[in-house]
Order: sequence, then C-alpha cells, then structure tokens
Amino acid sequence: MPRKPFVGGNWKSNGTIDSAKELCRSLTSGSAAYRNKVDVVMCPIIPQMSLVSKFVRKSPLRVGAQNVSATGEGAFTGEVSAGQLKDSGIQWTLIGHSERRTKYGETDAVTADKIAQCQEAGVSVIFCIGELLEEREAGKTDEVNKRMMDAVYSKIKDWKKVVIAYEPVWAIGTGKVATPEQAQDAHAAIRKMISSAVSEEVAESVRILYGGSVTADNCKELIGKPDIDGFLVGGASLKPTFTDIVTACVPAIPLKKPKFMKIDGVEPAARGVNIYAKVVKAASKVEGSEDLMEVVVGDDTALVTLSVRDDRVKVCEVGKSLRIQNAHVAMIKGYIRVTVDKWAALKLAEADDEVASVNEKKDMSGVEYELTKN
Ligand code: 13P
Repeated sequence: MPRKPFVGGNWKSNGTIDSAKELCRSLTSGSAAYRNKVDVVMCPIIPQMSLVSKFVRKSPLRVGAQNVSATGEGAFTGEVSAGQLKDSGIQWTLIGHSERRTKYGETDAVTADKIAQCQEAGVSVIFCIGELLEEREAGKTDEVNKRMMDAVYSKIKDWKKVVIAYEPVWAIGTGKVATPEQAQDAHAAIRKMISSAVSEEVAESVRILYGGSVTADNCKELIGKPDIDGFLVGGASLKPTFTDIVTACVPAIPLKKPKFMKIDGVEPAARGVNIYAKVVKAASKVEGSEDLMEVVVGDDTALVTLSVRDDRVKVCEVGKSLRIQNAHVAMIKGYIRVTVDKWAALKLAEADDEVASVNEKKDMSGVEYELTKN
C-alpha cells in the first residue's frame, strides 16, 4: 500500500489576521489539484487557529497546533492540553520541533509525555526529530535520530496518528537544504530503526517528512526519493507557492506505454496526458521565449516535441527514458503543442519502463495526432 503524501505548513510565530486570511484564500483556490491525493495540515499561531479552520472548512486543508501541553487540564498557566485541542476541532499538532527543543528546553522525556497525552486524546502528531550541525559533522545523525525516536516508542499505541518529520537543524531557516541523497539516507535509516523497534509493517506505513529550507523548486527532486513522503515547510508555507510544494507531492499514476496515433484533433485543449518516451534530441531554446526549451522525445511509433521550462530540462538527457505525467496538450493552428508546465510531473522512467526503441523517421511534432490518455 503506497503511503499517502503529507505536507505540513509550520507558520511559526509569523503573521497577522490579514496575512493569514490572504494566505488561506490563495491556498484554498489551488486545492483542486491535490484534494484526496495529499494530506495538508497548516499550523498557525494559536489565536488564528479557529479563524483559519473556518476559512479552510470546505477545502482539503486541515489545521494543526504548533505545540501541545505535556500535562492534562488544570492549573498549568499558558498551556493547551491535547484534549482541549481535540475539543476545539484541532486534530493535529507538532511535537518536538527543534525550536522547542533548543530554545525552550524541551527534552526527549517531555516529547514523550506530549505524545502520550495526544495518543490518549486521539490527536494526531507530527513528531519532529533531527540533528544539529555539529552532530552531523561528527557523524552522529543516525545516533541522534535514534535517541529521539527511542524516547517515544513506548508511548505510541496508534501509529496511524503519528507522522515523523526529519528536520536537520542546520537546514532550518538557513536556505541550506539537505541534498536529496542526505535526506533519503536519513529517512531510510529512520525507517529501519522503526522496523527494528516496532515492526516492519509500521515502518512501511509511517510517513516520514523532510523539513528544512524546502521550496517549490527544491521539493521536486526530494519527493522523488523513495523514503521521503512529504514535507514540513516553514518559510515557504507563508507564501502562495506553498500550493506548488503540495502539488509536487501528488503521486504519479502508473502509466501505460505511449501510443502516438493520428487523429482529427485535440479539442480544444487537454490536460493530463501521460507519456513514456526516450529523449532523442538535446534540449534547445524556443525562439522568442525567455525560459522555454524544446525537447524531442519518442517511442517505437513516433517522435514528438515537448515544451519544457529550462529549469526542468536537467533530466532530459539524450538516450534517457522519461516519465511525463499530466502534460498539457493544445492544438495551435493545426499543430499540436505538448507542454510540460508546472502542474506536470517530469521524471526519469523506472528501469521497467525504459523505452526500448524509437522510430526516428516518423516525426509527429507538427501534425495532428493523439497521445494515449490514462
Ligand atoms: P524552513 O522551511 O523555514 O527552513 O523551516 C523548516 C521548519 O522548521 C518547519 O518546521
């Protein structure tokens, strides 16, 4: 069973009522692209939680807290208990964020108490772990993550209510994002730890998010890694482009091999065309465009030219097979244009789906044809 992607937006101590309303407006308007495909939880400051909840009620967005009390109800000035979150309709909270750990002295034992409170109240948790720069440099990343995880296993009875966020502290708010390889290695190690400490089944089903300087640009490569199931986003969750990060996590549907067939036309335009094809000609600039490149791809039936933004043509190496999903197709003056825009996924194909042969004689770029739609 594939893991459903998850994206959290941690607004931290930022914003006003006006900026929150503005952000909600822009995030809900783009939500059709990820509804039912990605879980999205935004964590505003406490006084804005009910307003934001009201604003996003009809959208797939959910609201979470940034913190929760390690105790229950009672004489605990300044604290909000897990039961009170639940009572206010808040189903999620962050626990163990590095800013809580390093700036407010939250210990492993406190994170464990907080998780226990949430499990008891039925509140879902995004549990944050991750190493400091000096710990990474000393080669202690896995050791630190293990220590933080070991502290909470005994408190977790319902793993369906837990998501892990790996946030290396040196990457938070610094603009210094972990490389996809660094993040994948840490995530795989965390999954292995959970497998040994709990069970393989839990390890396979629990979602592990990456957090630390995630942006709409760097998220695409990160989400392509097998153990990265989404993101916990700070600064970039305060911008309308947060929607692009969520949309980048929409899972690709398995594709069939492409077929380019002659047809009467694509009327008037279609989105959602899926293609497996091999790159046969290196990307070249589109005349008169600042940032569009043309890439010729094909399979054993025909060739076609794609329009791709130049920041995404990196994977389009001659001889490599691509998996393109949700491309946009339009008839322009009798010609078909296949555009890999920001809503489309463009990745290298899996080994199983490599395109074996290409019919270079039959160039369909400038004629009317149809691509198989899945
Ligand atoms: P940035 O995305 O601003 O680096 O913050 C990450 C974070 O702390 C999310 O919880």
